[in-house]
Amino acid sequence: MDLIGLKTLGAERFAALLALCERLDTSSAPAGGRGAPSEAGSLQGAAVALLFCEPSTRTRVSFELAAARLGMHAVRVSPEESSSQKGESLVATCRNLEAMGFEALVIRHQVCAAPHEVAERVQIPVINAGNGNDEHPTQALIDCVTLRRAFGRRGEEMAGKKVAIIGDIAHSRVARSDVWALGYLGCEVILAGPPGLMPAGDELGPDSAWRAGHVRGAASRDEALQDADAVIMLRVQQERLEKASGQQYHPETYLRDWGIDADVQRGAMKPGAFILHPGPVIHGMELSEALADGPQSLILEQVSHAVAVRQAVYLACLGAAQGF
Ligand code: NCD
Repeated sequence: MDLIGLKTLGAERFAALLALCERLDTSSAPAGGRGAPSEAGSLQGAAVALLFCEPSTRTRVSFELAAARLGMHAVRVSPEESSSQKGESLVATCRNLEAMGFEALVIRHQVCAAPHEVAERVQIPVINAGNGNDEHPTQALIDCVTLRRAFGRRGEEMAGKKVAIIGDIAHSRVARSDVWALGYLGCEVILAGPPGLMPAGDELGPDSAWRAGHVRGAASRDEALQDADAVIMLRVQQERLEKASGQQYHPETYLRDWGIDADVQRGAMKPGAFILHPGPVIHGMELSEALADGPQSLILEQVSHAVAVRQAVYLACLGAAQGF
């Protein structure tokens, strides 16, 4: 199966995939060593191509490590070193990789349509590692594993929790996948960000049907934080803004108005509320360094689940796990 977005995956298959992530997460936890799950054997020797047409650290490296843990070969195909420099299209490149015998493609691309276009033209599974501002399904799985674990340690359920997402919502594929994932888990989502960074015409915009459902907007950071049980902070995607409008956000004023430091945490957040961030974190902008590394931060815990989540996605997409 392809994993392009959580919107099309639906609640039932999302729940099954999340359960698989959580099961593998125990077996790949540091204390558990490298114990591969029982399904892993069937992917031994399978080859996956990683086409990252935008920068990535955590996502790419964890897809590589997850492949290695399953005994697969992961081959990186970077645009700077491939025939896309000579004018070959992404679809043509992917068809060639399929002809060569690759069994899956992991694609990160700046164009929202890219993974859909590839999936229409190849038979092998396509896994979306982030497409424009559309979706980043594996990051949302990581965020849900992290939150469920964190609430679980307190004996609490996810359903009914309020999760704020603050920052550059307009450009964030993480926000869009998180909104679907958190909705499937019964959470309320509160979106807030500077007016220029809030979505307008799409399904997260003020007129969307969702706003009548589990998603609402807040006019300020403090309003969003007021009764949130957890907050997912987002980086301002300056590289996309520069192309669109050239607008710049300055770290100090951004932190004052939309970021979180110790004063904001004390004054505006619910005691015990968790702080997440998909990375990369710009310290001193969306979060002060002390808060990013503080006791309420789950940021490194998110990263610690990345490999198991991507192992689970390989197993599900390549048909090596039951129920997909
Ligand atoms: C994000 C992305 O690329 O979508 N990071 C990630 O993959 N964990 C967010 C960002 O770049 O700010």
